[in-house]
Amino acid sequence: MGKHLLTVESLSKRFHSGGRAVAAADALSFHIDAAETLALAGPSGSGKSTVARLLLRLIEPDAGSIAFEGDDWLALQGNALRARRARMQMVFQDPLAAFNPRATVARVLDDPLRIRRIAPRSERPARIAELLERVGLSPNLAGRTVHEVSGGQRQRVAIARAIATKPSLIVLDEAVSALDVSVRGKILELLADLQRTDGIAYLFISHDLGLVRAFAHRVAILDGGRLTEEGDARAVIDAPRSAVGKALVAATPRLHRLTGQDAS
Ligand SMILES: Nc1ncnc2c1ncn2[C@@H]1O[C@H](COP(=O)(O)OP(=O)(O)OP(=O)(O)O)[C@@H](O)[C@H]1O
Ligand SMILES: [Mg+2]
Repeated sequence: MGKHLLTVESLSKRFHSGGRAVAAADALSFHIDAAETLALAGPSGSGKSTVARLLLRLIEPDAGSIAFEGDDWLALQGNALRARRARMQMVFQDPLAAFNPRATVARVLDDPLRIRRIAPRSERPARIAELLERVGLSPNLAGRTVHEVSGGQRQRVAIARAIATKPSLIVLDEAVSALDVSVRGKILELLADLQRTDGIAYLFISHDLGLVRAFAHRVAILDGGRLTEEGDARAVIDAPRSAVGKALVAATPRLHRLTGQDAS
C-alpha cells in the first residue's frame, strides 16, 4: 500500500499525428491524498486531458506507473480492472456529449447501479431518488430526458452518476467551465460538501486559476506535457515562479479581485 490515494510516477504518453510526435505527458510525477483536491492547470494543449484519460485507463501510457488505492493500476486488466474502476470516476465539461440526450435522468443513474450490480432492480428507483437528493435535485426530475433539464441540473446528474459507484477519486475535466458563474459556484459547493461527507478526492482540471485558487488544495501546472510548478494552490497562484504560471495568472483577471478579497 502506498501512502497516497494516487501516486503517479514518470508517466509519459506521446501521440503521433501527421508525421509529428507530441509529448502530451512527459515524465509526469504527482500524488493525490484521500479527500484532497489537486488542480491540474496549464494552457490549452499542455496535456491536462491526456492525464485524465491515462488515469481512467481510456488510453495507455508509453512509460511510467500509477498506484491507486494500493493497486498497481496499470497492471489491472479484465474483470479486476472493471471491478476497481468503480472507485475512480470522471465528470466532463459537457454531459450531453457523455450521455444519450434522449435517455431519462433515471436511466442515466440506473446504468451504473445495474451494470456494477450495486442494487437489485426493486431497490434501484429508491437509490436513484436518493442520489438525486444528494446532489440537490428533486426526485421528480427522474422522468425527464437529459436534454430537458438545464445545464447546471445536467452537471448535477453527472455528479450523481459519478458518486453512484462510491468512488474515492473523481476526475473533473473542466467540469464547471461551461456553466454560468452563479451555477458554477453552487456546483463547486456541492463538490466540496461531497468531499467533506464522503472523503472524495478530486483531480480538478481547469485553465481558470481563479477557480483553482478558490477550490483546490494544491495545484500542478503543466506546460507541453511537463510539470513546471507544483505546490499549495494559494501560494503558487499568488506568487508563481514558472513562466507559464506567471502567464496563466496574468491571463486571469478575476483573480485580482479574489485575491484582494481574502488578503489578510
Ligand atoms: N488522440 C490524439 N492524437 C494526437 N494528438 C493528441 C491526441 N490527444 C491529444 N493530443 C495532443 O496532445 C497534446 C495535449 O492534449 P490535451 O488534450 O491533453 O491538452 P489539454 O491540456 O487538455 O488542452 P485543453 O485545455 O485545450 O483541453 C496536444 O498537443 C494535443 O493536440
Ligand atoms: Mg483538455
